[in-house]
Amino acid sequence: MSKIIVIIGAPGAGKGTQSRLLSEKYGYPQISTGDILREMAQADTPLGRKIKETMASGKLVSDEILAEVILARTSQPDCQEGYILDGYPRTLEQAHLLEDLARKQQKSVVFMRVGVHEETLFKRLTGRRTCAKCGEIYNVYLRPPKIEGVCDLDGAPLTHRSDDNPESVSKRLEEYRQSTAPLIDYYRESGRLVEVDGELPVEEVFDKLRAVIESSDGQ
Ligand code: AP5
Repeated sequence: MSKIIVIIGAPGAGKGTQSRLLSEKYGYPQISTGDILREMAQADTPLGRKIKETMASGKLVSDEILAEVILARTSQPDCQEGYILDGYPRTLEQAHLLEDLARKQQKSVVFMRVGVHEETLFKRLTGRRTCAKCGEIYNVYLRPPKIEGVCDLDGAPLTHRSDDNPESVSKRLEEYRQSTAPLIDYYRESGRLVEVDGELPVEEVFDKLRAVIESSDGQ
């Protein structure tokens, strides 16, 4: 049965880092709702402006918009064998939509949470830099590039996300506590969530996630 791999975690927990590695390993597309929304926010339309404003405020974009995004993206041919959800679901409503979707698409779901303490999250987010070309993720404190401001892989400039400033990070963490923590309880109570220590080095977190995926037939 083809799989949906779900990575849940607070802002900065390492969802994007790990989803990229898993995508390379298994050949499944990485579906980052944050990246899709950032792209949509560039459009000078009422929808683009609304998304941009919401993301800048550190709040969640509405479940209705996310439903459209997820339905459209996961119905693409490259998702047939399976896909990785990086940043979805984040609310109970989104979780229910995913359950319907998995049933309709006849896919099993592996839910994994990457847990990281709040003090660590701050450093990770404010220090994050991303390659504008290939998307490789660095951190000026924890995983610096060989040459400052330049991607090791392709020499392209590194960018700093506009919502990675201390004020937006505080708001994103607050939103996470309010909207996404209940979702974690929901998955935990139903026995479907596998928890992985996200404080470990990137490669060790990856090995643990891989072990979960390979020992699971999904739920
Ligand atoms: P999104 O882009 O998903 O941001 P986020 O959830 O805040 O998560 P991040 O991308 O900041 O962190 P990450 O967990 O991917 O960490 P990363 O791997 O980069 O969403 C942005 C916005 O879009 C939201 O605020 C919301 O408005 C909207 N949105 C998105 N999805 C939505 C949804 N479903 N519903 C409603 N709204 C939605 O790592 C971070 C840093 O740590 C990097 O520098 C990395 O190098 C470093 N690092 C990672 N792992 C390790 C490790 N193990 N050890 C040391 N350093 C590490």
